[in-house]
Amino acid sequence: MSEGASGGRTARLSDELNRRNSAFDNGLRPEDFSGFVGQEKVRERLMLAVEAAKRRGDTLDHVLFSGPPGLGKTTLSYILGSAMGVRVKTTSGPVITKPGDLAGLLTSLEPGDIVFIDEIHRLAKTVEEYLYSAMEDYVIDIMIDQGPNARSVRLDLPRFTLVGATTRIGLIAAPLRARFGLVNRLDYYSPEQLSEIVVRSAARLGVDIDRDGAMEIARRSRGTPRIANNLLRRVRDYALVKADNFITLDVAKESLSMLEIDVNGLDEMDLRILETICLKFGGGPVGLSTIAVSVGEEPDTIEEAYEPFLIMQGYIERTPKGRVATELGRERVGLSLNGGTK
Ligand SMILES: Nc1ncnc2c1ncn2[C@@H]1O[C@H](COP(=O)(O)OP(=O)(O)OP(=O)(O)O)[C@@H](O)[C@H]1O
Ligand SMILES: [Mg+2]
Repeated sequence: MSEGASGGRTARLSDELNRRNSAFDNGLRPEDFSGFVGQEKVRERLMLAVEAAKRRGDTLDHVLFSGPPGLGKTTLSYILGSAMGVRVKTTSGPVITKPGDLAGLLTSLEPGDIVFIDEIHRLAKTVEEYLYSAMEDYVIDIMIDQGPNARSVRLDLPRFTLVGATTRIGLIAAPLRARFGLVNRLDYYSPEQLSEIVVRSAARLGVDIDRDGAMEIARRSRGTPRIANNLLRRVRDYALVKADNFITLDVAKESLSMLEIDVNGLDEMDLRILETICLKFGGGPVGLSTIAVSVGEEPDTIEEAYEPFLIMQGYIERTPKGRVATELGRERVGLSLNGGTK
């Protein structure tokens, strides 16, 4: 892969910022809808559903969130819990390995509780099938014993709300998807929205920031609140040591360039996809599966986690014949190559 050395370092860092630091998310997580910036349509729909469920004295319908990492799926699930005034029990697809695990979890619920299943696309097929009756009829049939003594026992469950989150909506089986009353796709945030998040987070972290400083961090955050918060933490350290704890445009620029964060927030895989289209296939059109093989990633992941950002930024387009790099995309690769080979 023809990739500049500095490009590679930049990319690995921002990748890491996105994935590894979810433990740090907690401190800056908004606790209610009013603190949750952007995603207006999703937010409105959820607030309405919460209000209606409360007036009816009913549980909330099952909710599915999809979208790239770090856009607020987990955050919204907790917000739903506090808005409904119920507990949120958290688990994740790969952790529930057998139907018994699921039965144990669901029979321990209080009426109205939310069960949050992260990475729900990674649930085992055998477990997923048990979930169908649990979601629809609040019962679960489990097999007891084996061989001639084997029999199925029906357990009644309290009415509960399942909230599922996935970065790979394409991998959710149709019958499971159909059982969610509210299906929400989260999109990348605009620089203006991210800058609002940065300003709020800065207040929580106790560091001063001006508008231009916040905007500079926002622009380099790949449309992703988690990356914005993580970059803010790095810039805060720099500001504390070198700039009187005040983040201005210059302070943001200096610290981010010291960290070698790409000016437009592209990460390593973004750049590899662009390079594949531009350099190996003359700017396209080139098919999704060809790109996937070339960069060593799943087609679904490219389509769901990377392309939307590249398209939103105007670097590539989807055409009936395949993916095509725009003029902007070609320029971007040209620039990154010059930077890397010098
Ligand atoms: N709309 C928002 N407003 C303010 N902060 C947000 C918003 N969305 C996300 N965040 C911040 O970004 C962090 C990451 O969000 P979250 O953990 O909800 O992402 P996720 O979609 O669950 O990611 P993953 O797919 O990796 O699990 C949160 O801790 C929170 O600080
Ligand atoms: Mg999450």
